[in-house]
Formats: sequence, structure tokens, C-alpha cells
Amino acid sequence: MVAKTMEDLVSLCKRRGFIFPSSDIYGGIKGLYDYGPMGVELKNNLKNAWWKSMIYERDDIEGLDATILTAPEVLKHSGHEDTFSDPLVDCKSCKARWRADQLEENSCPDCKSKDLTDPRPFNLMFKTNIGPIDDGTTFTYLRPETAQQIFINFKNILTSTNKSIPFGIAQIGKAFRNEITPRNFIFRVREFEQMELEFFVEPGDDIKWHKYWVDARYNWWLDQGLDKKNLELLEVKKSELSHYSKSTIDIMYSFPHGKEELEGIANRTDFDLGSHSKNQKEFDIKANVIKNDKSTTKLAVHNLEKNTWTIPFVIEPSAGVDRGILAILNEAYNEEKIDDKNSRVVLSLKPHLSPIKAAVIPLKKNNEEIVMKSKNIKHTLQKIGLGRVALENSGNIGKSYRRHDEIGTPICITVDFETLENNTVTVRDRDTMKQKRIGPDELINYYRLYFN
Ligand code: GAP
Repeated sequence: MVAKTMEDLVSLCKRRGFIFPSSDIYGGIKGLYDYGPMGVELKNNLKNAWWKSMIYERDDIEGLDATILTAPEVLKHSGHEDTFSDPLVDCKSCKARWRADQLEENSCPDCKSKDLTDPRPFNLMFKTNIGPIDDGTTFTYLRPETAQQIFINFKNILTSTNKSIPFGIAQIGKAFRNEITPRNFIFRVREFEQMELEFFVEPGDDIKWHKYWVDARYNWWLDQGLDKKNLELLEVKKSELSHYSKSTIDIMYSFPHGKEELEGIANRTDFDLGSHSKNQKEFDIKANVIKNDKSTTKLAVHNLEKNTWTIPFVIEPSAGVDRGILAILNEAYNEEKIDDKNSRVVLSLKPHLSPIKAAVIPLKKNNEEIVMKSKNIKHTLQKIGLGRVALENSGNIGKSYRRHDEIGTPICITVDFETLENNTVTVRDRDTMKQKRIGPDELINYYRLYFN
């Protein structure tokens, strides 16, 4: 096995249709990427695995799909208008702009000059205008995290689902940040997706639940194929905590460019519900919130036994989909020697994440009977509903295997002349490259079992 680099992953992603630079034919835009045919399947599979683990396999979490455009009041009371900024410096020599906290030896990475401006806060939120008149008063923000829509929908969800704490609200969706220096492929980008859970608990139970979610989320990443040796839990220093957090544990992953945050699990206390609630004075809000005279709703729960109203604490596991994809690709990518002359690139993805579950390959591209038989097998397997099954009719079996190894297809099924006689096919396993001949009934079982 040969060591992989970020370049290996970027090259595979472009070559096999996982990820392309956005607006590529016009030279691209820094920090923006498009997911191609394989990328969108991989991404959907990762998001589905998260959704399944959060919503379908539990009974204490509900889902949400809220808007990206966000009223300024929301991001004022969440603290983002005032504090969601990075320190920006300009290089006076070459005019490049940098994040002050990411510079080495306080010099410009491009021209090495040390003649830089003083750092000044740069708010990372993107603004846009609502309606036909742009007079500076009708703006909204593109959300910088999916979390805020969860908090402002707290009461809607609580009352419409009859839930009581502890319970959570989960959401997957786009977030936007005008990063000063986007870099490292899809690691730090300006448009990305988050998978966020806000789990509401009784104040006092927060430390217990925080630990619970750190463990649960760490184990979930292992189930997605990440190796323990590449993962680490890091307690964020008090001085580096976000404005809303009492304590945060980051799940760090050894990306090709270094060890960095994959997911953060924060104890957000009663900061968010307290910030967005009306009649704040009625509650014993522990966090430091700014006065809210705009909200129409109390974001509190009723304790029937004590007849008291409390603003719950929030534990938030917040994972980046794109960083997850990068970690998974890094983990799955292998270059293997087949023999003295040949090697292959294989993406050993966990089967549930593979963009294509099985490829059906007619041995002869132009043989109508073989192609028809292959199509029938494809449709039969597709109907089982485990994900995408592809007909791969390139006419070159070696190239087809190579392509499907590189995109991580667990099973290749070859249809040949013998299939026309006795309905048997050859199945080839991606990881072992072993082939065997099986009959039609066996094929369906083989396929089902593979993904169980
Ligand atoms: N709601 C909490 C929150 O947004 P965060 O640590 O700023 O916390 C959570 O972001 C996760 O979102 C990160 O762990 C990371 O995976 C992902 N993320 C944040 N900024 C990103 C960026 N510019 N590009 C890609 N992913 C990003």
C-alpha cells in the first residue's frame, strides 16, 4: 500500500466524478465545489446513515428542514452579528488578505512580507437582499449554521410532536461562511453542509448528556469506516470556545493535510433558547444573553410535577458533511500492488456508503441478448432498494473493473454466453477480487446479504 496525499484524492475525485471545482469552465471560484454523479451518491449515503441513526433508530429525535435565508433578528440574538468573525489582515506589499490566526511567523504566505495591517474583525456571514428594492434595510443572511432554525422552531416542534425533554431536533442542510482563506480541498469551503442535532435536556443533566453524545458520535464515525488511529477527542480550551459554549469536545481526524476538526460536540447551555425567548426575565437564564423584545414566543418547557417553567440546556453534535466525505475518502483510498507489473486504486468504502452497490457488466457490448439479460438483472437488483445499481456497458471488462474499484463498487456482476444458457453469472468482490459463478436465486441472496 502506498501513502496517499490530498492530490491523490483530488485527482480521483475529478477523474471518477466525485467532486469538481465549482464554475470550473470559467476558472472556478475559491472555496466552492460541486459534487458529481459519484459524489452526490456518496454524500446522500452518508447523510442517510446519519439521519437513520438520529431519527429512525431512536424515538427521542425529530427532523427538520428549514430555510437557508434567515431573518437578521435571528442572527442578532444568536450572537452571530456581533461575534461571528475572524481576524483579517492585509499584506501591504502584495495586497493579499489572510486570517491573522493562521499565519506562520506573522508573514504573508504569498510574498513573505511582514508588512501587514493590524488584524480587524471580519464577519463571515453572507448577506443577500429580499424583494425588489435594495435600500440596505431589506437584507437577510444565508445561515452560517443550521442550528439557529432549530432553536427558533423549538416550540413548533415541541407542540406538534408532543415531545418532552430530553428530546432532540435534527437537521441536515447547507451553511455558508465567507471564509477568508478557504483551503485544503473540501475541508474549509464557503458553502458546505452540516448535520446538526440540538438535544434539549434538563439543566443539571447537561454534563451527562454531553458525554453520552461524544461517545455516540465517535462510535458513529467508526461505523462509517474511520479508523480509531486517525481519530482523537480534543477538549477545546476555554479561551477558544465559541460564544455560546460552556464546553466543547472536538472529534479530530488526521486529514491528509493534518489533524483537524471533523465534528464538534458543544454544551450550548440555555444560551440559544434563552436568547430567542420572549419574557426572558421570567426565567432563571444561566447564559449571558442580550435582551430580546422582538420574540413572540417563550422557549421553555413546563414541569408538571413542580409546576415550573424551565429553559432547557442544549447539547449539540455538529458534523460537517464535506469534512466527513474527505475523511471517508482518505480512509477508503488504497493503492495496491496486484502483481509485479500491475497495481490498482481501490476505494474500500463501507458498502452502505458506496455510490454504486453493484455494477452489471455485459461481456459483449453489442450482443443484444446479453445486454437484455444484464438490464433485467440490473432492474431486479435495483428494485430491492438498497441504492444505485448500474449497467456498465463499456465493452471492456478490465476497464470496467478498474473503474468500479476506483469508485468503490462492492460487487461486479458479469453476464456472458453461459448466462444465456443456464442463467448463472460471475460475481467479483471489490476487496478480494475473487470471482465465483452463481445462479439467479443465489445472486439475489448474495446481494442482499452483502449489505446486511
Ligand atoms: N452549530 C455549531 C457550528 O456550526 P462549527 O464548529 O462552526 O460549529 C460545525 O461547525 C462543523 O461544521 C465543523 O466541525 C465542520 O465539520 C463543519 N464546518 C464548519 N466550517 C466549515 C467550512 N468552512 N467548510 C467545511 N466545513 C465546515
